[in-house]
Amino acid sequence: MAFDKNARYREIAREIAAVVEGEPNPVARMATVSSLLAHAFDSYFWTGFYVVEKPEELVVGPYQGTLGCLRIPFGQGVCGTAAVTQETVIVKDVHAFPGHIACDVRSNSEIVVPVFGADGCLMGVFDVDSIERGAFDETDARHLEAIMVATFGHG
Ligand code: SME
Repeated sequence: MAFDKNARYREIAREIAAVVEGEPNPVARMATVSSLLAHAFDSYFWTGFYVVEKPEELVVGPYQGTLGCLRIPFGQGVCGTAAVTQETVIVKDVHAFPGHIACDVRSNSEIVVPVFGADGCLMGVFDVDSIERGAFDETDARHLEAIMVATFGHG
């Protein structure tokens, strides 16, 4: 049977909700999201969070993958762009994105989703890199945004 991306996202969303139920610690929630998503999709190469630690700066949070850079100023790279615009950024070819930060040269495409806390303030961003070109589309954006709202947006 052909791979059904929608069905896989729905399954993982249910699994994440079940695992984090009753767990208030945001690090435990971020680690769970990273692990379950990273292992659900072959296209995911680097999967994890950058967290707003001080004004205008992101610091790496829980992730799965090869070494990620530690800090990203707002406005820099794909993560820093998503932090400023507070909107999802889909990059089909990272080599064509001005200012892309290459933590691992094998990455070719990327999606970054803003993450908001229960207070509605930006908590950080969720970043997925792929070795494939054009790995992410609106389907990924829609599901990842819903997972972030369900996991971090409710008090
Ligand atoms: N490529 C990202 C940086 C983070 S990592 O690749 C893990 C960016 O341009 O924001």
